[in-house]
Amino acid sequence: MCGIVGYCGRKNISEILLGGLKRLEYRGYDSSGIAVGTDNGITVIRRVGKLKNLIDAVPSMLTAQFGIGHTRWATHGEVSEENSHPHTDCSGKIAIVHNGIIENYQQLKDRLIASGHKFKSQTDTEVIAHLLEEAWDGNLTASVRAILPMLRGTYGLIAMHADVPGVLVGARRGSPLIMGIGKDEMFLASDASAIASHAQNVVYLDDGEIISISETGFSITDADNNDIKKPINDMEFENDDFEKNGFPHFMLKEIFEQTESISRGMAGRLDLAAATGKLGGLNMNENQLRAVRRVVIVGAGTSYFAGCIGANFLESMAGIPARAESASEIAYKDIIIEPDTLYFVVSQSGETADTLIALRELKRKGARVLGVCNAVGSTIARETDGGVYIHSGPEIAVASTKAFTSQITTFAIFALIMARLRNMTSVQGEAFIKAFQAIPSQIKEVLEQDSAILALAKKYCGYPNFIFLGRGVCLAAAYEGALKLKEISYIHAEGVGAGDLKHGPISLISEQMPSLFLVPNDGLRQKNISNIKEVKARCGKVIAICTRGDNEIAETVDDVIEVPETWPILSPFLMIIPLQLFAYHCAVLLGRDVDQPRNLAKSVTVE
Ligand code: F6R
Repeated sequence: MCGIVGYCGRKNISEILLGGLKRLEYRGYDSSGIAVGTDNGITVIRRVGKLKNLIDAVPSMLTAQFGIGHTRWATHGEVSEENSHPHTDCSGKIAIVHNGIIENYQQLKDRLIASGHKFKSQTDTEVIAHLLEEAWDGNLTASVRAILPMLRGTYGLIAMHADVPGVLVGARRGSPLIMGIGKDEMFLASDASAIASHAQNVVYLDDGEIISISETGFSITDADNNDIKKPINDMEFENDDFEKNGFPHFMLKEIFEQTESISRGMAGRLDLAAATGKLGGLNMNENQLRAVRRVVIVGAGTSYFAGCIGANFLESMAGIPARAESASEIAYKDIIIEPDTLYFVVSQSGETADTLIALRELKRKGARVLGVCNAVGSTIARETDGGVYIHSGPEIAVASTKAFTSQITTFAIFALIMARLRNMTSVQGEAFIKAFQAIPSQIKEVLEQDSAILALAKKYCGYPNFIFLGRGVCLAAAYEGALKLKEISYIHAEGVGAGDLKHGPISLISEQMPSLFLVPNDGLRQKNISNIKEVKARCGKVIAICTRGDNEIAETVDDVIEVPETWPILSPFLMIIPLQLFAYHCAVLLGRDVDQPRNLAKSVTVE
């Protein structure tokens, strides 16, 4: 969703701001803009559409030493230049960029208009600029502090004023904001990616904090103007993390990175001698873990499907009743928190509004909530009672791939820990670890079939509808495969339980509706084969992902992709890879914008 960046320093400001916005493109946007402070006041340049339109409009050598930039994803008001950020007050001396939603903007706007303010946009954000104009007392930090209590909703914002050259003031509530420290230069941004190539250190701001930066320093205060000391962290990303490194798209790069990202997520977390796992950040001792009677995993989209698989691991391996809940649903349910239930919230970005709201509701009602996040220092990671970083590295493509397999890596380790504290023998634990450690090299073998999957995509990408079917631990992998296909290729795809086919979806089967079955070599294989036959009997085309050497399936279906044999419970790790590649190739063949599909944002920070 919207991304923001701010800079105080002496480097070429257009390069810094536009470079930062380029790095934020992956979050999804429909327009962009910058504001810079020059000797003649504030210059604002905004454009609709791709960032290139803005880059073409900005003079390459702007002489300014402070400025802000924004990529907008429209919420209030159509996609237009007037509605793009930065927004200014009536005098044009104040400029604002804002991420989030001001819920009471209409009341504020009505009052401001009644007292003579002239609005130029339909956005909620513009009220902030006019409120600042009204509260202006010559001190930017004090003026920002004065208006924040009037805002209801969420914000990560940066303000600048022509009369206070070289200073930016930021504030956050519910939307991320971080500060970057470079050599004689300071940054503000919604996301480390925007400043990773310049800043050596970062400070993660918390809700309620107000930050003022200049080229040489910063100060952080709270609503009552008390000074706040914050830890200064190293910038954990390399510049390379944000480059395609020879791949045509970030999504393909991230699919191929999964051998390493999964290995990173396992590193130091498997103990073969004790035949168990180790997850340092859980903040729970063995007795507390043994006392857990139920696990509920909460997430959105792909993270929710990873949670479904995690719940399956826990039930199958540790015998603990477990389920996944969609974050947007649980947030508004009458949740009954039982004292021996452990909650997890899963989020790649750590900023998803639905998941954050669910987390806060669960905590308010007394639940112990652990996080499974990728983005270090993200809001969800910081607000949970403990948790695990999945370490998959920055995921830039909007469609999540490597984060999904890293999330289920974490849950497999957690399930192993829980199983070994209960019923699992050391012999079983050891055998599981060996099978699990083989997964990265087995994924490599699956990736080697990329050209066969491309051929499959060529054969099938013209079909407008698909059904993805699975059972047991592969059901959520089927849901995830369907989600991948629909979100990047815009082909309609549904995930269906193979056992549910006869309860309705079978009426859709025809020559025009291909089915994609996930058939691991598990106890449900025969049932899956029966379902495949039901589809074939109705002239449906079937693609199957099955275990290597499963000739019975190969002979029954139209097309097959084989994956190496593994423990049945681990099969989602291998079965999801062909589905990710299939979706990717269909999208490319159909000419879609693979890394930034229409209407989607990487980090969904609004409800
Ligand atoms: C799908 C996708 C989304 C996200 C969902 C949650 O490819 O990317 O469904 O999984 O918006 O995002 P996070 O994991 O950042 O909370």
